[in-house]
Amino acid sequence: MSNSKKLARAHSGLVGELMIPGDKSISHRAVMFGAMANGTTEVTGFLSGADCLSTIACFREMGVHIEQKDDSVTIVGNGLDGLKEPKTVLDVGNSGTTIRLMLGVLAGRPFYSTIAGDESIASRPMARVTKPMKQMGTKIDGRDSGNKTPLSVRGGTLKAIDYVMPVASAQVKSAILLAGLQAEGRTSVTEANATRDHTERMLTAFGVSVEKEKNTICINGGQSLQATNVHVPGDISSAAFFLVAGCVVEGSRIEMKNVGLNPTRAGILKVLERSGANLTIHETSNNGGEPRGNVQISGGELTPFIIEGEEVPTLIDEIPVLAVLATQIKGTSIIRDAEELKVKETNRIDTVVGELAKLGADIEATDDGMIIRGGKPLTGGSVISHGDHRIGMALAIAALCAQGDVTLQEFDAVNVSYPRFFADLSSLMD
Ligand code: S3P
Repeated sequence: MSNSKKLARAHSGLVGELMIPGDKSISHRAVMFGAMANGTTEVTGFLSGADCLSTIACFREMGVHIEQKDDSVTIVGNGLDGLKEPKTVLDVGNSGTTIRLMLGVLAGRPFYSTIAGDESIASRPMARVTKPMKQMGTKIDGRDSGNKTPLSVRGGTLKAIDYVMPVASAQVKSAILLAGLQAEGRTSVTEANATRDHTERMLTAFGVSVEKEKNTICINGGQSLQATNVHVPGDISSAAFFLVAGCVVEGSRIEMKNVGLNPTRAGILKVLERSGANLTIHETSNNGGEPRGNVQISGGELTPFIIEGEEVPTLIDEIPVLAVLATQIKGTSIIRDAEELKVKETNRIDTVVGELAKLGADIEATDDGMIIRGGKPLTGGSVISHGDHRIGMALAIAALCAQGDVTLQEFDAVNVSYPRFFADLSSLMD
C-alpha cells in the first residue's frame, strides 16, 4: 500500500538541531487578518501545510490577492468590505480552525456563502459557532439543524452579544470576536479556562483594541484592521513530537530554534518540567506580541504525570504524544477533563488508546481522558493515523522506542501541519 510506511526505530540517541515550522494557529490568523485589513501584509515563517493553504484558498475565492512561496506570504487587503461573495463552495479541507474562524468573518458580510470540508470536518460539531452567530443575527443553516457541514451563511447586520462559553475553545472565542468586530455595540466572551489567545494578540498588532478583564474578552464593533507584518514563530505543537522523542530515546539531545512560547500554549513544557525532564528554555524575543525562543531537551529520569483542569487547553493538541511519553514512564499517568479530545480531527481518546494498545501499551480510555500504566517496552505492529496528522506523528515517536517493526498506514496525514516531519526526524538519526 503506497500510503503506508515502515517507521524508524532509534538505535542510538537523537541528536541535532531543528528549525521548527511555523505555528499553524498563528499562520491561519496572519492570512485571515491580512485579508481583512487595509493595506499589504507580509508574513514570514508561514506554515505551508495543507490546513493553512486551505485558508489562503478560501480568501482567494473571496477576491483577495495573496501570493505565497514556501514560508513567505503577501496579502493585499482591501478591508472587510473588500471581501467578495464567493462563486463556489469555500473548501476548508481538514481544517477546523479555518471553518470556525471563517464563520465569524462570514457572519457579518452582506453576502451568501457555503462552506464545507473533508469527511472529518463533516463529522465535527459546528453548533458551538453557529449558535452564537445566529444570536448575533446571521442566517446559517446546514445538516443537523446547522450543526454539521455543508453550512450556508447569509451574513448581514449583527448585534453585539455577551457570551459565556460552554466549552473551552479558542476557535469559538475567535469566531465570536471576529463577528463582534463587525457588530453594532460591544461584544464580550467569557471563558471558564483560558484558551490560546493568538486572536487577541494579533488583532492588537493589526491596530484593533481588544480588552481583557479577568476571564472576559471585549471588542467594540466597527473597528478596522491596519496591515502589518507578521513573523510567525515555530509551532510548539510540532516541537512537542521532538520534545517527547528526546525523552523516550536514551542519549538524545535535541535543540529547537524559534519555538513559540505563548503561555496559553506552553502546557507541555510545564508537564515535562514537573516530570523531571532535562529541559532548557531560552526566550529570545517577543515579536508581534508572541514570545518565542530556543528549547533544548536531553532526556531525564521521568516520573508519571497528571493533566487536568485549566492546564488541559494549554496542551490539548499535545495529548496524543504525551500519551506516548506516559507509556515509557514507570507508574500511572492520568489525563482527565479532556473530553474535547473527542471532537478533534478524530476522536483522539479512541484513536490514541486504540493505536497505542496495538503496540502493547497498557492504556485505558475514560469518559474524559485516559489512564496509562507505563514503563513497559512497546512492541511492533501495524497502526493507522486515521487521517489525523497528530496521531500519525505521535505513532512515529512511539515507533522510535518499539522493540519490533512498526508500520504506519495513512502516514501522509502529517502534511496537514508538518510536511517535513519525517525528513526532520531522520535528520536526527543520521
Ligand atoms: C485552535 C484551537 C484548538 C486546537 C486547534 C487549533 C486554534 O481547537 O485544538 O488545533 O487555532 O484556535 P479548539 O478551539 O476546538 O479547542
